Amino acid sequence: MLTKLWKVDKNVDNLITYPQIRQAATLLMENHVVALPTETVYGLGGNAESDDAVAKIFAAKGRPSDNPLIIHIANQAQLANIVREIPEMANQLMEAFWPGPLTLIFNKQDGKLSEKATAGLSTVAVRMPDHPVALALIEASGLPIAAPSANLSGRPSPTTAGHVYDDLDGRIAGIVDGGPTGVGVESTVVDCTGDVPVILRPGGITKEQLEAVVGEVSTDPALADPEQAPKSPGMKYRHYSPNAPLYLVDGEVEDIQQLVDEKRAEGLKVGVMTTEENRERYQADVIYPCGRRAQLESVAEALYDTLRAFNESNVDIIYGEIFPETGVGVAVMNRLTKASGYPIIRK
Ligand code: TXA
Ligand code: MG
Repeated sequence: MLTKLWKVDKNVDNLITYPQIRQAATLLMENHVVALPTETVYGLGGNAESDDAVAKIFAAKGRPSDNPLIIHIANQAQLANIVREIPEMANQLMEAFWPGPLTLIFNKQDGKLSEKATAGLSTVAVRMPDHPVALALIEASGLPIAAPSANLSGRPSPTTAGHVYDDLDGRIAGIVDGGPTGVGVESTVVDCTGDVPVILRPGGITKEQLEAVVGEVSTDPALADPEQAPKSPGMKYRHYSPNAPLYLVDGEVEDIQQLVDEKRAEGLKVGVMTTEENRERYQADVIYPCGRRAQLESVAEALYDTLRAFNESNVDIIYGEIFPETGVGVAVMNRLTKASGYPIIRK
């Protein structure tokens, strides 16, 4: 399949009238799949009402079909059409954070969406992205758009159109390039179907931000305990992984350097995933900084690009620094431990 590429300047007025947006929207209406930028990561969009379109999303990514998709909307009328009710806490959260990196789980209105999009669950995950290109495309198509991250399943999520191209060229109908995404990690997924909102996946909106709006917020215990089955089906899979094994180290620069030296002595090509603050302090084959430690938002923004960069460098093994689990650091550590798949080395 020929993958069409459109470049769009996200800052122009009346995006919805631009031919790139019209053409991409037409493909969506014909049940083809198109990658689009959001403020978190690039999504692989398809008509959420069509089994055919949703099947193409799963096929292009190689994604397990028991993992439901997030439905992207551009206005409240689209929400009212697909959910059974809107709890008060959800109203407060939407008022505060939509459009934005927050996905809410509602009880689903049956018969409105492809059952494949929700993996047959009685609930549905919905978000309104804070990106003019995503919003214009959803508006122009007039459809609820199912969109997982636009990477091959298991690979780091894409934060540029180039990342999408590397994974999905030839497998999808088109890519709308709206420049690099901003937040860098996916949306926070919050279940609103119970008495208290529950974080199922940490993300761009922090627990502290949620609590400031709705008071008590709990976290799916499975997030901290690998033995428990997570409520969010997607959280059980290994994810975001670079090709070489990644080991996270809770220790000083000197501790990590010692591990690097040992592996290099064995003849291995060793990479270090560090931060701007520490990059000059290591000696290794490949050293990539992932944002600034002093500003965890910059670490989130650079995370997936840095993980992908190690694949170009052909290292045999990567050692990575860890981050404090405060604010968006919770999401960063969630993604890093999944990318690693190994227990953290504690020094
Ligand atoms: O920022 C984001 O959320 C990006 C952009 C493209 O919007 N999308 C994204 O989608 O990360 P995806 O498919 O990679 O992750 C969706 C997550 C999965 O963990 C999935 O299991 C969960 O949301 N999910 C979807 N529907 C659910 C439901 N009804 N109940 C619980 N979890 C659900
Ligand atoms: Mg994903």
